[in-house]
Amino acid sequence: MTIDEEPRCILCNGPSTDDNPLLELRGWIRTVLEQDGMAHYPCMARMANNAAFSKGDIPWDISQPHPALVSLVETKRIVPGRVFEPGPGLGHDVVYLASNGFKVTALDISKKAVSMLRKRVEKLGLDVDLIVGNVLRDSPTEGEFDYIFERSVLQTLPPTQRANYILRLAEMLKPTGEYIGIIRGPRIPMPESQPYAFTRYMIEQLLSTQFRNIEITRVPSGFNNSQSEYFLVIACRR
Ligand SMILES: C[S@@+](CC[C@H](N)C(=O)[O-])C[C@H]1O[C@@H](n2cnc3c(N)ncnc32)[C@H](O)[C@@H]1O
Repeated sequence: MTIDEEPRCILCNGPSTDDNPLLELRGWIRTVLEQDGMAHYPCMARMANNAAFSKGDIPWDISQPHPALVSLVETKRIVPGRVFEPGPGLGHDVVYLASNGFKVTALDISKKAVSMLRKRVEKLGLDVDLIVGNVLRDSPTEGEFDYIFERSVLQTLPPTQRANYILRLAEMLKPTGEYIGIIRGPRIPMPESQPYAFTRYMIEQLLSTQFRNIEITRVPSGFNNSQSEYFLVIACRR
Protein backbone atom coordinates (compact mmCIF):
# COMPACT_ATOMS: atom_id res chain seq x y z
CA MET A 1 0.00 0.00 0.00
CA THR A 2 1.41 3.45 -0.86
CA ILE A 3 1.15 6.43 1.47
CA ASP A 4 -1.69 7.81 -0.68
CA GLU A 5 -3.75 4.70 -0.12
CA GLU A 6 -3.51 4.83 3.69
CA PRO A 7 -6.93 5.23 5.32
CA ARG A 8 -7.63 8.80 6.43
CA CYS A 9 -10.05 10.31 8.94
CA ILE A 10 -13.10 11.45 6.98
CA LEU A 11 -13.41 14.45 9.33
CA CYS A 12 -9.83 15.82 9.53
CA ASN A 13 -8.09 13.84 6.77
CA GLY A 14 -5.36 12.81 9.23
CA PRO A 15 -3.87 9.31 9.31
CA SER A 16 -4.53 6.52 11.77
CA THR A 17 -1.86 6.33 14.48
CA ASP A 18 -1.30 4.02 17.44
CA ASP A 19 -2.50 6.60 19.95
CA ASN A 20 -5.25 8.01 17.71
CA PRO A 21 -6.62 5.14 15.62
CA LEU A 22 -9.48 5.43 13.17
CA LEU A 23 -12.83 4.02 14.33
CA GLU A 24 -15.98 3.39 12.32
CA LEU A 25 -18.76 5.99 12.61
CA ARG A 26 -21.69 4.16 14.22
CA GLY A 27 -24.95 4.63 16.11
CA TRP A 28 -25.82 8.11 17.35
CA ILE A 29 -22.60 9.65 15.95
CA ARG A 30 -23.32 8.34 12.45
CA THR A 31 -26.91 9.58 12.59
CA VAL A 32 -25.92 13.08 13.72
CA LEU A 33 -23.04 13.44 11.26
CA GLU A 34 -25.00 11.80 8.42
CA GLN A 35 -21.78 10.21 7.17
CA ASP A 36 -20.28 6.73 6.88
CA GLY A 37 -16.62 5.86 7.18
CA MET A 38 -13.70 5.95 9.60
CA ALA A 39 -12.65 8.84 11.83
CA HIS A 40 -10.55 9.61 14.91
CA TYR A 41 -12.54 9.39 18.13
CA PRO A 42 -11.86 13.05 19.17
CA CYS A 43 -12.89 14.32 15.71
CA MET A 44 -16.18 12.45 15.78
CA ALA A 45 -16.97 13.37 19.39
CA ARG A 46 -16.22 17.06 18.75
CA MET A 47 -18.17 17.34 15.50
CA ALA A 48 -21.18 15.24 16.50
CA ASN A 49 -21.64 17.06 19.81
CA ASN A 50 -21.18 20.50 18.22
CA ALA A 51 -23.82 19.58 15.65
CA ALA A 52 -26.21 18.28 18.32
CA PHE A 53 -25.87 21.38 20.55
CA SER A 54 -26.15 23.73 17.55
CA LYS A 55 -29.36 22.04 16.38
CA GLY A 56 -30.74 21.75 19.92
CA ASP A 57 -31.11 18.00 19.35
CA ILE A 58 -29.94 16.85 22.78
CA PRO A 59 -31.61 13.53 23.63
CA TRP A 60 -29.77 13.04 26.95
CA ASP A 61 -30.79 16.39 28.43
CA ILE A 62 -33.15 16.23 31.45
CA SER A 63 -33.45 20.04 31.89
CA GLN A 64 -32.55 19.85 35.58
CA PRO A 65 -29.77 18.67 37.88
CA HIS A 66 -29.92 14.91 38.32
CA PRO A 67 -32.08 14.00 41.37
CA ALA A 68 -29.38 11.65 42.69
CA LEU A 69 -26.86 14.52 42.77
CA VAL A 70 -29.37 16.79 44.51
CA SER A 71 -29.93 14.11 47.11
CA LEU A 72 -26.17 13.72 47.76
CA VAL A 73 -25.89 17.46 48.38
CA GLU A 74 -29.07 17.79 50.45
CA THR A 75 -28.10 14.89 52.71
CA LYS A 76 -24.54 16.28 52.97
CA ARG A 77 -23.12 13.02 51.61
CA ILE A 78 -20.97 15.40 49.61
CA VAL A 79 -19.95 18.78 50.99
CA PRO A 80 -18.61 21.88 49.24
CA GLY A 81 -15.16 21.37 47.76
CA ARG A 82 -13.49 21.30 44.36
CA VAL A 83 -15.35 19.35 41.66
CA PHE A 84 -14.26 18.41 38.15
CA GLU A 85 -17.07 17.61 35.73
CA PRO A 86 -16.18 16.17 32.32
CA GLY A 87 -18.78 16.55 29.57
CA PRO A 88 -21.24 18.88 31.35
CA GLY A 89 -23.28 19.60 28.21
CA LEU A 90 -25.85 22.29 29.05
CA GLY A 91 -24.54 22.20 32.61
CA HIS A 92 -27.55 21.72 34.88
CA ASP A 93 -25.34 19.83 37.35
CA VAL A 94 -22.56 22.45 37.09
CA VAL A 95 -25.03 25.24 37.88
CA TYR A 96 -26.52 23.28 40.77
CA LEU A 97 -23.14 22.49 42.33
CA ALA A 98 -21.79 26.02 41.88
CA SER A 99 -24.98 27.47 43.39
CA ASN A 100 -24.47 25.21 46.41
CA GLY A 101 -20.96 26.31 47.29
CA PHE A 102 -18.85 23.89 45.20
CA LYS A 103 -15.93 25.24 43.14
CA VAL A 104 -16.52 23.64 39.75
CA THR A 105 -14.18 23.11 36.82
CA ALA A 106 -15.93 21.64 33.77
CA LEU A 107 -14.48 20.54 30.44
CA ASP A 108 -16.41 19.66 27.30
CA ILE A 109 -15.21 18.67 23.85
CA SER A 110 -17.99 20.74 22.28
CA LYS A 111 -17.12 24.42 21.85
CA LYS A 112 -20.81 25.11 21.31
CA ALA A 113 -21.79 23.46 24.61
CA VAL A 114 -19.13 25.41 26.52
CA SER A 115 -20.19 28.70 24.96
CA MET A 116 -23.84 28.07 25.87
CA LEU A 117 -22.87 27.11 29.43
CA ARG A 118 -20.53 30.10 29.75
CA LYS A 119 -23.38 32.48 28.93
CA ARG A 120 -25.58 30.72 31.46
CA VAL A 121 -23.12 30.88 34.38
CA GLU A 122 -22.21 34.50 33.59
CA LYS A 123 -25.88 35.47 33.64
CA LEU A 124 -26.25 33.77 37.03
CA GLY A 125 -23.05 35.39 38.33
CA LEU A 126 -21.49 32.01 39.16
CA ASP A 127 -17.75 31.47 39.35
CA VAL A 128 -17.07 28.34 37.26
CA ASP A 129 -13.94 27.37 35.28
CA LEU A 130 -14.98 26.21 31.81
CA ILE A 131 -12.60 24.54 29.38
CA VAL A 132 -13.03 23.36 25.79
CA GLY A 133 -11.08 20.11 25.42
CA ASN A 134 -10.90 16.36 25.24
CA VAL A 135 -11.01 14.79 28.68
CA LEU A 136 -8.71 12.04 27.44
CA ARG A 137 -5.96 14.55 26.73
CA ASP A 138 -6.67 18.03 28.12
CA SER A 139 -7.43 17.37 31.77
CA PRO A 140 -6.68 20.17 34.22
CA THR A 141 -4.06 19.93 36.95
CA GLU A 142 -3.68 16.55 38.56
CA GLY A 143 -4.50 15.73 42.18
CA GLU A 144 -6.54 18.87 42.83
CA PHE A 145 -10.13 17.75 43.09
CA ASP A 146 -12.24 16.49 46.00
CA TYR A 147 -14.80 15.04 43.62
CA ILE A 148 -15.24 14.05 40.01
CA PHE A 149 -18.88 14.21 38.97
CA GLU A 150 -19.91 12.87 35.60
CA ARG A 151 -23.26 12.10 34.06
CA SER A 152 -23.69 10.11 30.86
CA VAL A 153 -20.15 10.64 29.57
CA LEU A 154 -18.90 7.06 29.96
CA GLN A 155 -21.78 5.97 27.68
CA THR A 156 -20.27 8.04 24.86
CA LEU A 157 -16.81 6.42 24.96
CA PRO A 158 -15.89 3.48 22.70
CA PRO A 159 -14.54 0.51 24.68
CA THR A 160 -10.94 1.23 23.62
CA GLN A 161 -11.02 4.69 25.27
CA ARG A 162 -12.52 3.76 28.64
CA ALA A 163 -9.49 2.57 30.64
CA ASN A 164 -7.61 5.78 29.80
CA TYR A 165 -10.67 7.85 30.75
CA ILE A 166 -10.92 6.22 34.18
CA LEU A 167 -7.17 6.66 34.70
CA ARG A 168 -7.36 10.39 33.80
CA LEU A 169 -10.26 10.92 36.19
CA ALA A 170 -8.48 9.13 39.03
CA GLU A 171 -5.32 11.20 38.48
CA MET A 172 -7.25 14.45 38.86
CA LEU A 173 -8.51 13.54 42.32
CA LYS A 174 -6.79 14.24 45.63
CA PRO A 175 -5.72 11.01 47.38
CA THR A 176 -8.92 11.25 49.45
CA GLY A 177 -11.07 12.19 46.44
CA GLU A 178 -14.24 10.47 45.27
CA TYR A 179 -15.66 9.60 41.87
CA ILE A 180 -19.40 10.11 41.49
CA GLY A 181 -21.04 9.00 38.27
CA ILE A 182 -24.53 8.61 36.88
CA ILE A 183 -24.14 5.73 34.46
CA ARG A 184 -26.56 4.25 31.93
CA GLY A 185 -27.55 0.77 33.07
CA PRO A 186 -27.98 -2.38 30.95
CA ARG A 187 -30.28 -2.49 27.95
CA ILE A 188 -31.57 -5.46 25.95
CA PRO A 189 -29.88 -5.96 23.62
CA MET A 190 -26.71 -4.27 24.86
CA PRO A 191 -25.86 -1.51 22.35
CA GLU A 192 -22.67 -1.81 20.31
CA SER A 193 -22.46 1.92 19.60
CA GLN A 194 -23.20 5.21 21.38
CA PRO A 195 -24.97 5.53 23.71
CA TYR A 196 -23.41 2.45 25.28
CA ALA A 197 -24.87 0.72 28.33
CA PHE A 198 -23.24 -0.86 31.39
CA THR A 199 -23.94 -3.72 33.76
CA ARG A 200 -22.85 -3.53 37.40
CA TYR A 201 -20.13 -6.04 36.58
CA MET A 202 -18.78 -3.92 33.71
CA ILE A 203 -18.68 -0.84 35.96
CA GLU A 204 -16.86 -2.70 38.74
CA GLN A 205 -14.33 -4.16 36.30
CA LEU A 206 -13.61 -0.78 34.75
CA LEU A 207 -13.40 1.27 37.93
CA SER A 208 -11.59 -1.24 40.12
CA THR A 209 -8.29 -0.58 38.32
CA GLN A 210 -8.15 2.93 39.88
CA PHE A 211 -10.85 3.00 42.56
CA ARG A 212 -11.87 1.10 45.69
CA ASN A 213 -15.05 0.90 47.81
CA ILE A 214 -17.21 1.02 44.68
CA GLU A 215 -20.89 1.53 45.61
CA ILE A 216 -23.43 1.04 42.83
CA THR A 217 -27.06 1.96 43.47
CA ARG A 218 -30.00 2.06 41.08
CA VAL A 219 -31.40 5.60 40.69
CA PRO A 220 -34.20 7.25 38.67
CA SER A 221 -33.25 8.05 35.10
CA GLY A 222 -34.12 11.73 35.55
CA PHE A 223 -36.22 11.62 32.38
CA ASN A 224 -39.97 12.18 32.81
CA ASN A 225 -41.97 8.94 32.65
CA SER A 226 -38.92 6.76 32.00
CA GLN A 227 -38.20 3.73 34.17
CA SER A 228 -34.97 2.98 32.27
CA GLU A 229 -32.15 1.78 34.46
CA TYR A 230 -29.40 4.15 35.63
CA PHE A 231 -26.84 3.72 38.36
CA LEU A 232 -25.31 6.12 40.84
CA VAL A 233 -21.70 5.03 41.31
CA ILE A 234 -19.51 6.32 44.12
CA ALA A 235 -15.93 5.21 44.55
CA CYS A 236 -12.75 6.30 46.38
CA ARG A 237 -9.43 6.82 44.66
CA ARG A 238 -6.97 3.98 45.28
C1 LIG B 1 -24.36 12.42 26.67
S1 LIG B 1 -23.75 14.04 26.87
C2 LIG B 1 -24.03 14.32 28.62
C3 LIG B 1 -24.06 15.79 28.98
C4 LIG B 1 -24.37 16.10 30.45
N1 LIG B 1 -23.42 15.48 31.35
C5 LIG B 1 -25.76 15.64 30.75
O1 LIG B 1 -25.92 14.57 31.37
O2 LIG B 1 -26.68 16.33 30.32
C6 LIG B 1 -22.01 13.85 26.78
C7 LIG B 1 -21.25 15.14 26.91
O3 LIG B 1 -19.87 14.85 26.95
C8 LIG B 1 -19.17 15.64 26.00
N2 LIG B 1 -18.04 14.82 25.57
C9 LIG B 1 -18.05 13.71 24.80
N3 LIG B 1 -16.82 13.22 24.65
C10 LIG B 1 -15.99 14.05 25.33
C11 LIG B 1 -14.57 14.09 25.53
N4 LIG B 1 -13.77 13.17 25.00
N5 LIG B 1 -14.07 15.09 26.27
C12 LIG B 1 -14.86 16.04 26.82
N6 LIG B 1 -16.20 16.05 26.65
C13 LIG B 1 -16.76 15.07 25.92
C14 LIG B 1 -20.19 15.96 24.93
O4 LIG B 1 -19.89 17.12 24.18
C15 LIG B 1 -21.46 16.10 25.76
O5 LIG B 1 -21.61 17.40 26.26
